[in-house]
Amino acid sequence: MNLILAILCLVVLATYYLWSRRDFYKFFAKFPGPLGYPLIGIAHKMRHKEDLLSLFGSYIKDYGTTLVTWLGPLPLLIVSDPQVTQDILNSPHCVNKSLMYKIFDDAGGKGLLSLEDPVWTEHRKMLNPAFGHKVLLSFFPIFNDETAILLKEFDKMADGRETDILPCLQHFTLSIATQTTMGTCVKEEPSFKNSSLIAHVEWLQECVADFVLSPWFNFRIIRQLLGREEHYFRSKTQIRSFIRKLVDKKLSRDIQDKTTGNKNFFLNLAVEHLKRGSFDRENVENESIIIVLGAFETSSKTLANTLMLLAMFPEYQEKAFDEILALFPNAGDFSVSYEDTQQMVYMDLVLRECMRLIAPVPVVVRQASKDVRLSNGVCMPKGTQILIDIFHMHRSKDIWGPEADSFNPDHFLPHNFQEKHPYAYIPFTKGLRNCIGWRYGILSMKVTLAKLVRNYKFSTSFNYKHLQFIDNITIKLATTPLLKLERRI
Ligand code: HEM
Repeated sequence: MNLILAILCLVVLATYYLWSRRDFYKFFAKFPGPLGYPLIGIAHKMRHKEDLLSLFGSYIKDYGTTLVTWLGPLPLLIVSDPQVTQDILNSPHCVNKSLMYKIFDDAGGKGLLSLEDPVWTEHRKMLNPAFGHKVLLSFFPIFNDETAILLKEFDKMADGRETDILPCLQHFTLSIATQTTMGTCVKEEPSFKNSSLIAHVEWLQECVADFVLSPWFNFRIIRQLLGREEHYFRSKTQIRSFIRKLVDKKLSRDIQDKTTGNKNFFLNLAVEHLKRGSFDRENVENESIIIVLGAFETSSKTLANTLMLLAMFPEYQEKAFDEILALFPNAGDFSVSYEDTQQMVYMDLVLRECMRLIAPVPVVVRQASKDVRLSNGVCMPKGTQILIDIFHMHRSKDIWGPEADSFNPDHFLPHNFQEKHPYAYIPFTKGLRNCIGWRYGILSMKVTLAKLVRNYKFSTSFNYKHLQFIDNITIKLATTPLLKLERRI
């Protein structure tokens, strides 16, 4: 009798559950996709970040560019269609990140990257001026001074052997990021000098990328039981104490730096909001962590990837070199101005093509906070989890033609590019919650590439076809190709 009653209760509960979610099912019935297993959906297939991009690639091949699946009990919309992407990125009801990104709050604190509306809108409005045109122009002396130092480091690597250039670029972009946003040169900090800070950032990122895929890692007790807490905790604490020290320095007016005069300079702005009471101390730290990590990590990887692709495709490297040679006839260090960056037309194509083929952030996530009507008339219900697959959209043969998978900067020549959907190429995303530092990123990378491409010829024995990509929140190469540097005169 008791058993029958229990079964009846379960049936009633299950029926109520399905009925309460009928809007979801109606919506998801409109799109194809793999259902996976009851209760877990495709969660078992998404456990390893190494397989994620190829998994999405196979789904897109089988089900098309807008597909639906289940991540545990959560319905998940996977999108690589430019129009649906535009609908989502421009909807005021899709600015919040998916539940999958909850772990970011714990790892780096609640900053711009993971904040939810309406707090995100307020913070974004407050911090936008830190990336205005005038502020960016004031960074050029730092970009130039630091690249001059980078040239000396690269000189040491130009010894006829193939070498990994990424660590050197990571130190370089971290140094630029801390000077331009926190107003402090960190080169004398022990954790910078001995590379432990960069190692902590890398470890934290690995953890976050794993934890995003296994929601039980959101619980500290489970991380502890599975032996994942100790290292993760040490890394996030070290990063926070590094940033806290920089904020303390600023608060004790200890900074003697060329950028601090500008009221819109990031840390000045954040501290001003602290004084006015619109930020508390934790907000200042959290936003500083996100800005510094956001600036350094993506830029170093994109620089390394661009030089790697130029090494693999010497014909395009020579074209880029010719353009830079015409602008800067003398080898060695030279000053690159904002106007110079605007003259680098071919370098612009190269950089854009690199970010197309190797999208620095391969996947971004959102969730619908209200019902959203897409431009195809379908209503996406509140609560839908959304994953935008930038990596595969950037490589779609339907959009980019039969050579979509190969490196050719001509993809961005006006006659090839202007007819494309405006959301077919979104390395910084677009719409309401795009990258706050996208102009900063492009300008700093152009200054760096101009000096490096002018002074060195890059080559590699690694074959482009053997590159393998991993979604590690930012993109990661399974094997890092080593590059050979030869000095140019
Ligand atoms: C190659 C360079 C860069 C690339 C490709 C890049 C890409 C991106 C992408 C795709 C997002 C959106 C993430 C999402 O929607 O989940 C983003 C957000 C963000 N980026 Fe960048 N980024 C770059 C450089 C920078 C720089 C230089 C800074 C700071 C100086 C920065 C700071 C941020 C911040 C704070 C956010 C969160 C914005 C928000 O949600 O309001 N990024 N970036």
